[in-house]
Amino acid sequence: MKTVRIAPSVLAWDLADLRGAAEIAKKGGADQLHLDVIDGHFAPNITFGPGTIKALRRESDLKFDTHLMIDQPLVYAEKFLDAGSDLLTFHAEVLNSERFGELHSLVKRRGKEIGLALKPSTPLPGWAEARLADLDAIIVMTVNPGFSGQSMDMAVMPKIGRISEMVERAGGATDVEIDGGVEPENVHEVVKRGGNVLVAGAGVYAKPDPVVAIAILRKRAMEALNFR
Ligand code: DX5
Ligand code: ZN
Repeated sequence: MKTVRIAPSVLAWDLADLRGAAEIAKKGGADQLHLDVIDGHFAPNITFGPGTIKALRRESDLKFDTHLMIDQPLVYAEKFLDAGSDLLTFHAEVLNSERFGELHSLVKRRGKEIGLALKPSTPLPGWAEARLADLDAIIVMTVNPGFSGQSMDMAVMPKIGRISEMVERAGGATDVEIDGGVEPENVHEVVKRGGNVLVAGAGVYAKPDPVVAIAILRKRAMEALNFR
């Protein structure tokens, strides 16, 4: 059985202090650092780009989980690999089988992990289901992309279950990463349905003690594993 991993999302921290965000994640024992790249086209916010990630790479040895909420992934993917991303995730809404194939070749040539992200209302496309074995992660978004601090959309829960089942049938090697509104109160629900990587922005960085918040999320997740 997969263990559960915690991925703090730096978008919820002071963006002038990304080094501090990485230090908190490290101190709390987080498994990876979630980096939300938004271009103002794909979703209504503009965050940071490869230059920022490259600068942060010098400050942290955590796994960099880069979530690209951008319209033109083929134009920018290489820059995010050069910047030091370890897992690069692209949105299904701007891809098709052919484009995904190109991105997959590029990422694998560089020896990195590739993920596919889905907005709350986007089902897993057929072309992606056929290539599950080629996906290191699927990000199931439980809020509409753009901002930290939104509440989890519980209507997405059945989709988490369906995707987790598909992943199991395909061998179970793909992480099911849940992104949006993860809080101690809903960890049980998403882990029970098969989520095994928990992204948390406000669920970590808006808490009085973010280091402790990581431990609390992990504890809740480990308890929920027994209910699968
Ligand atoms: C939303 C981002 C999320 C977000 C999560 O567009 O993809 O990763 O930062 O933040 P919380 O956990 O606060 O919803
Ligand atoms: Zn994200």
